[in-house]
Amino acid sequence: MRMTTTPLSQTALLLELEAVVEKNLDRHLSIAKEWFPHEYVPWSEGRTFDGPLGGEAWTESDSTIPEVARTALIVNLLTEDNLPSYHHEIATLFGRDGAWGTWVHRWTAEEGRHGTAIRDYLTVTRAVDPVALERARMTHMSAGYENVHGDEVLHSLAYVSFQELATRISHRNTGRVTGDPACEALLARVAADENLHMVFYRNLLGAAFELAPSQAMRAVADVVADFQMPGVGIEGFARKSVAIALAGIYDLRLHRDEVVVPVLRQWDVFDVTGLDADGEAARDQIAAHLDDLERAASRFEEKRAAREARLTARS
Ligand SMILES: [Fe+2]
Ligand SMILES: [Fe+2]
Repeated sequence: MRMTTTPLSQTALLLELEAVVEKNLDRHLSIAKEWFPHEYVPWSEGRTFDGPLGGEAWTESDSTIPEVARTALIVNLLTEDNLPSYHHEIATLFGRDGAWGTWVHRWTAEEGRHGTAIRDYLTVTRAVDPVALERARMTHMSAGYENVHGDEVLHSLAYVSFQELATRISHRNTGRVTGDPACEALLARVAADENLHMVFYRNLLGAAFELAPSQAMRAVADVVADFQMPGVGIEGFARKSVAIALAGIYDLRLHRDEVVVPVLRQWDVFDVTGLDADGEAARDQIAAHLDDLERAASRFEEKRAAREARLTARS
């Protein structure tokens, strides 16, 4: 791959990166482990619900996991549920042909497993209100999801690199707060998939840094500046994400130190050479954004510690 200084069109970027997609697709297929959602669900714990089959309705006391774990599981599941919209967005942008197309379909198939597994688990264990969950799914999917960088290849690759890692951490930490080893094992399995997705996208953008460093740097700067979780459209997301942050499942500290910084390090953003003026400006913006994130994360940690101290003093 040759480095270029004149900006590449979106089509040229897709063509130039096709060989990298092929290589990383092969890599992905050789290391992705087959797994079965049904093996992670304790079916014998299940009971028939009310409705046509005349079982028992869900009640609050059915759930044995902490409320914040329920909140996080619902956010994670609704996020997975919006897969048709994500598929539409990446199929439109990356296309359905060649290695790009093979990846789009394979990725969609893997993601489809996540929603299936988590929903089965929650329903069988009666961990969440199934009626509220179904209504939330209808609302969320009816709104759909739109990639804010929908016609830009590198911006989209940068976004999914961060997003897959963010999702990995969110699943993993959600499993931890459930206090349920079976749920933890399921979410650790899902998180392992998300990690491989992150590696795939991160490697692609890594190649883009060699091909068109200034365009890649611009993409990363724009994406970190306005990054939002894919579940941002979920009803009550702001309130739910505060609870999730207070529980340490996903907060600004994790976002900065375990998502943004490690991915930037893999791309070596602060040592990339051959940048034009805008590429340099973009890199400066990334550095400034990391400083802002550091301040915001520390502020949040202080507030959270003060809140915990108040709660302990009260009890
Ligand atoms: Fe997923
Ligand atoms: Fe994923």
